[in-house]
Amino acid sequence: MILPIRRYGDPVLRKEAQEITSNTPELQTLIDNMFETMKNADGVGLAAPQIGESIRLFVVDVRHYEEDYQEKTGEPFPDAWKECMVFINPEIIAESDEESEFEEGCLSVPDIHEMVTRPSKISLQYLDRHFTPQKMEVDKLMARVIQHEHDHLDGILFLDHMSAFKRRMLQRKLRDIQRGVLETKYPMAKLSA
Ligand code: NI
Repeated sequence: MILPIRRYGDPVLRKEAQEITSNTPELQTLIDNMFETMKNADGVGLAAPQIGESIRLFVVDVRHYEEDYQEKTGEPFPDAWKECMVFINPEIIAESDEESEFEEGCLSVPDIHEMVTRPSKISLQYLDRHFTPQKMEVDKLMARVIQHEHDHLDGILFLDHMSAFKRRMLQRKLRDIQRGVLETKYPMAKLSA
């Protein structure tokens, strides 16, 4: 089922999400629905707060970038990235001092793409969809996507990483997103008044 995506200005995007304590059939259905919703919107990642669930879960699918990745890095696209990935209760346990800049966007903030600086490399521990503990060290594209999605669980948006000046320049566009003036090709939830 395709779920409506919460838009910039929705309070759920600013909440600290809750740890997930048990694996339930409802959780598995939610994960499937998030995959479907992300795919329909051509997203590379989707965090649970973006569909109105304030829980520590996000899904990632970077297959979209396979060609681009090989071209830019000259490296083969890792096998582990060739499927939809599920991250439950993820925790970033280490990050590199080295930072890199990359253009980001967000399904909750449509039509805005800006450069964001983040650590280039991170280590992460999490539960997969079977609740099996996993540990992962990632860099480049995957590190980027995971940090963006992980931020969502703490109520942080990629806009928060920009300068105040940049944000001011985007104010009008952000207001349009809030008011629902901006059309998207995927369903978005209306802001409750
Ligand atoms: Ni996002």
